[in-house]
Amino acid sequence: MDKSPLLFFQITLFLLIQSLLATSHPIPVTVSVTDFGAAGDGIRYDTSSIQSAIDSCPSSVPCRVIFPAPGKYLTATVFLRSGVVLNVETGATILGGARLEDYPKESSRWYVVLAENATDVGIEGGGVVDGQAEKFVVRYDPRKNIMVSWNQSGACLGDECRPRLIGFLGCRNVSLSNITLNQPAYWCLHLVRSENISIKDIAIYGDLNIPNNDGIDIEDSNNTVITGCHIDTGDDAICPKSSTGPVYNLTVTNCWIRSKSSAIKFGSASWFDFKHFVFDNITIVDSHRGLAFQIRDGGNVSDIVFSNINISTRYYDPLWWGRAEPIYVTTCPRDSTSKEASISNVHFINITANSENGIFLSGSKRGLLRNLSFINMNITYRRFTSYAGGLFDYRPGCQELVKHKTAGMMMEHIEGLEVRNVEMRWENNELEDWNNPMEFRPSTVNNIYFSNFNSVLYSNSKSS
Ligand SMILES: *[C@@H]1O[C@H](CO)[C@@H](O)[C@H](O)[C@H]1NC(C)=O
Ligand SMILES: *[C@@H]1O[C@H](CO)[C@@H](O)[C@H](O)[C@H]1NC(C)=O
Ligand SMILES: *[C@@H]1O[C@H](CO)[C@@H](O)[C@H](O)[C@H]1NC(C)=O
Ligand SMILES: *[C@@H]1O[C@H](CO)[C@@H](O)[C@H](O)[C@H]1NC(C)=O
Ligand SMILES: *[C@@H]1O[C@H](CO)[C@@H](O)[C@H](O)[C@H]1NC(C)=O
Ligand SMILES: *[C@@H]1O[C@H](CO)[C@@H](O)[C@H](O)[C@H]1NC(C)=O
Ligand SMILES: *[C@@H]1O[C@H](CO)[C@@H](O)[C@H](O)[C@H]1NC(C)=O
Ligand SMILES: *[C@@H]1O[C@H](CO)[C@@H](O)[C@H](O)[C@H]1NC(C)=O
Ligand SMILES: *[C@@H]1O[C@H](CO)[C@@H](O)[C@H](O)[C@H]1NC(C)=O
Ligand SMILES: *[C@@H]1O[C@H](CO)[C@@H](O)[C@H](O)[C@H]1NC(C)=O
Ligand SMILES: *[C@@H]1O[C@H](CO)[C@@H](O)[C@H](O)[C@H]1NC(C)=O
Ligand SMILES: *[C@@H]1O[C@H](CO)[C@@H](O)[C@H](O)[C@H]1NC(C)=O
Repeated sequence: MDKSPLLFFQITLFLLIQSLLATSHPIPVTVSVTDFGAAGDGIRYDTSSIQSAIDSCPSSVPCRVIFPAPGKYLTATVFLRSGVVLNVETGATILGGARLEDYPKESSRWYVVLAENATDVGIEGGGVVDGQAEKFVVRYDPRKNIMVSWNQSGACLGDECRPRLIGFLGCRNVSLSNITLNQPAYWCLHLVRSENISIKDIAIYGDLNIPNNDGIDIEDSNNTVITGCHIDTGDDAICPKSSTGPVYNLTVTNCWIRSKSSAIKFGSASWFDFKHFVFDNITIVDSHRGLAFQIRDGGNVSDIVFSNINISTRYYDPLWWGRAEPIYVTTCPRDSTSKEASISNVHFINITANSENGIFLSGSKRGLLRNLSFINMNITYRRFTSYAGGLFDYRPGCQELVKHKTAGMMMEHIEGLEVRNVEMRWENNELEDWNNPMEFRPSTVNNIYFSNFNSVLYSNSKSS
């Protein structure tokens, strides 16, 4: 009898704490896909178990959906919801289906994992998401593989008609960390019309011979931070694009990249502006291009810094865009109906490059390159593949490929260029016309400043 007031007090206190926790710090919920019947054998489809686990998450409470290791969870499209984070454990894999019926009707929604209009969503846990790209190869080709196109069914047109790996469309508060993305059949990680995105410690392993095998495409999205990434892929590795809106505030640090196209590329979809980007502490190896701008559709670019970046670029088959340029900045209009836009305030600081070709800076009449600076750079020009050099590559559109001898820095349509503490070293090369440090179209280049600039030929012959 004398206990009941205390008990009543305890229950009241307990309920009070519960309600406080529920409102200010909701207790995260954890569910496992195996509790919903997922087999994880890589053979049976686990689609409905995975989706039931996600849909069992209470709304407005953070929820982790665990994919336990070991296990290979074969699935059709997985739809993420607000508040849900997929936790793919180290040793577990989400395996994307390779059949047309595994994906939604609209080709714009073809992803293995898809979040639409969701907030507080992500993927983490140390495991893998795999797109099974090899199942989409029609014919292996050492120059560039031929891929399946689901256009036969009328689902979409052309040869870029197959599923991407992961999509966040119209999302807020997106977080990906500690995850490996393997073998996307098409683009890998696609961020669209989203905001506040954190990507940390991720690895992407695409296929060097698969076209459109992009790493991370940041499209019409703001406030994205990428740090700690390892990207090895056929097509562009980090690729901001603008199709329906601008891209503001992108920061990329501490990354290693190899690409058979551009390691970092702006465009070519470039209908709106790109503004306020920082790229720092990045290693780029064996890529067809290093830092590239393919601005073609009228969106302006401004306030971009690249610092502390080591680049090695090389030639690959010209079926792939790129001609071993360590830095490539262009604004030529895609076609006669395209608008021209400018690129301004772009700074390259502390850059080391080893390349088979030179820096290419090509504005256009109404799309000037304004206020570019190159500060503290060492560039070594050395030919080591047997692909032919001597081509300027304006693709897509514009003048396409133009025969022209290699130049250390090619410049046209520029207003404001500073080159300070820059050294070019040319390996003696009898194969082609070489050691041509500067090539500029003087009447289109104005207000240039050179300070402490050097260019030297060196010999690498072992018999001194
Ligand atoms: C997401 O939001 C857009 C814009 O409001 C809308 O058009 C689209 O249908 C939404 N998608 C879903 C799956 O709710
Ligand atoms: C990745 O996740 C695994 C499993 O949770 C963990 O053991 C590992 O420490 C994490 N690595 C990083 C870099 O966070
Ligand atoms: C489907 O793609 C193939 C390969 O690019 C192409 O030859 C064919 O014209 C396309 N068909 C349609 C209907 O787009
Ligand atoms: C994003 O997360 C922050 C901090 O948790 C929160 O304040 C904000 O409301 C979230 N935004 C959305 C759109 O959910
Ligand atoms: C952005 O999202 C992260 C979680 O991904 C959250 O912690 C942070 O508070 C958010 N920031 C804003 C400004 O919403
Ligand atoms: C990004 O910011 C710009 C400028 O404020 C805005 O117009 C655009 O709608 C924003 N995009 C998103 C996805 O929030
Ligand atoms: C970009 O970041 C700055 C802070 O660095 C912020 O003031 C601005 O609002 C951000 N822009 C957008 C579109 O979110
Ligand atoms: C640069 O990035 C590498 C990873 O690529 C990292 O190990 C290193 O700590 C970073 N350096 C700085 C100064 O942040
Ligand atoms: C670039 O190379 C220099 C010299 O080898 C090295 O000190 C520096 O850490 C490298 N930086 C990056 C970002 O790889
Ligand atoms: C790019 O800048 C030019 C000149 O300021 C302007 O006319 C044009 O509208 C801008 N483009 C976009 C997409 O805002
Ligand atoms: C370029 O090389 C010189 C020595 O030849 C060195 O002092 C300088 O730090 C190097 N700069 C960069 C950005 O690597
Ligand atoms: C460039 O490198 C120098 C010497 O390593 C360093 O002091 C300076 O902070 C670097 N600049 C930038 C913008 O990172």
